[in-house]
Amino acid sequence: MTTKKILCIGAGYVGGPTMAVIADRCPQYQITVVDLNEKRIAAWNSDELPIYEPGLEEVVARCRNRNLFYSTDIPKGIREADIIFVSVNTPTKTFGCGAGRAADLQYLEKTARAIVEYADEGKIVVEKSTLPVRTAQAMSRILHSNPKGLKFQIISNPEFLAEGTAINDLENPDRVLIGGMETPEGQRAIEEVVAIYANWVPRERIITTNLWSSELTKLVSNALLAQRVSSVNSISALCEKTEANINEVTAAAGRDSRIGAKFLKASIGFGGSCFKKDILNLVYLCGYYGLPEVAEYWEQVVRMNDYQARRFVGNMLAAMFNTVADKKIAILGFAFKANTGDTRESPAIAVCCQLLEEHARLRIHDPKALGNARLDLEDAEGDISYCEDPYDAVKGAHAIALLTEWDSFRKLDFRRIYDLMEKPAFLFDGRNLLDHRKLYEIGFNVYPIGQKALTHF
Ligand code: NAI
Repeated sequence: MTTKKILCIGAGYVGGPTMAVIADRCPQYQITVVDLNEKRIAAWNSDELPIYEPGLEEVVARCRNRNLFYSTDIPKGIREADIIFVSVNTPTKTFGCGAGRAADLQYLEKTARAIVEYADEGKIVVEKSTLPVRTAQAMSRILHSNPKGLKFQIISNPEFLAEGTAINDLENPDRVLIGGMETPEGQRAIEEVVAIYANWVPRERIITTNLWSSELTKLVSNALLAQRVSSVNSISALCEKTEANINEVTAAAGRDSRIGAKFLKASIGFGGSCFKKDILNLVYLCGYYGLPEVAEYWEQVVRMNDYQARRFVGNMLAAMFNTVADKKIAILGFAFKANTGDTRESPAIAVCCQLLEEHARLRIHDPKALGNARLDLEDAEGDISYCEDPYDAVKGAHAIALLTEWDSFRKLDFRRIYDLMEKPAFLFDGRNLLDHRKLYEIGFNVYPIGQKALTHF
């Protein structure tokens, strides 16, 4: 049996881990991951992988240079591959028609054109990137514009991994979704992609649909998840006014099996490269298809998220006598969630920028995201320093703003921290991570989300 060759175009947060797990679980396939970014590929070939993800290093170490290769030779990769996964970035458009909402598909289109240019036989092309519904139609037009008359099959196989738990999500997915054309060739292409995942994913968890359902499901899944966060956060504001406790409310509401207990945690809001961009894309699509009421409905999820970060800073100001000017504020956590160094769309960016506008002096600590935090705040004006050691960040601080739910923050010595801070010492727990009663007993004035503040005045 000849070895099947898989190519993945795009060596980012999705392409990197996804292909590593496929290589690990499918030794019979040879997998090459290519990218235009030479530095990124060099990092994938080094001991310092370009992204942090628990368990990733071990998987890469097992497969790299066995059946997993990283390269910048895109033409060779395309020529040799039987199946091409496209995992390039699809950010929100920042210019022209649809700016701020529509997906910027220029990277996807360039990839399709590269396939047309270098392929000398027909192939299966798998959309791994998150795309607007009906993108496969445009993709098909471009691919079939090839002068050689080659036939391509387009498959939609959106990725549902969450950063921070990517390896576990890939190894034990709730479901794998594979959409294709409802033609005999389309169905055969679906089966080829099913055969990859069937090496480790139980068959009943592999769902096959038509192309458009698959493309749309990814946007809908992210919209529903983000909607849950915004719903809970909206209620957290009401809890703070009424002395109801958001943890008690969500725990009790989540016991209804129709609601479910997961993803009901109040916080400063969602972040990451996907939720906001994918909802905005959904909003744009609804507008495009003449459904303004539907567009407005989903747009409110993003508005509520922005409001929650603003509300958090508003609460800080109100608690600290309406001014943070010249006060040192320790920022604990900058990544958009725990167990990743990724800071794309992190609510920490908005919170820090607002605090800087109020002339606060920021001391930022994060176990994995300081490099990215520096880049995010490169153009921000004000007094900012980055601290590898959390105890340096809190020295002389008037307040702590905890913005990421890193488990290591629970283990900090808060008595020592209290002693290092200015008094009265304020702690704003934007993730409801810490033991608030204990902190209050140490002497902190504690402000959780959606719960009564514990103060000494
Ligand atoms: P990323 O920005 O980390 O990686 C994309 C890579 O594609 C970059 O390294 C870029 O250099 C490369 N690239 C762009 N154009 C190229 C071209 N023409 N030829 C070769 N390489 C090219 O993006 P990420 O986070 O991996 O996301 C990729 C897609 O997956 C997006 O559509 C995203 O919405 C989706 N997604 C992301 C998830 C996440 O947690 N980050 C989860 C699920 C889906």
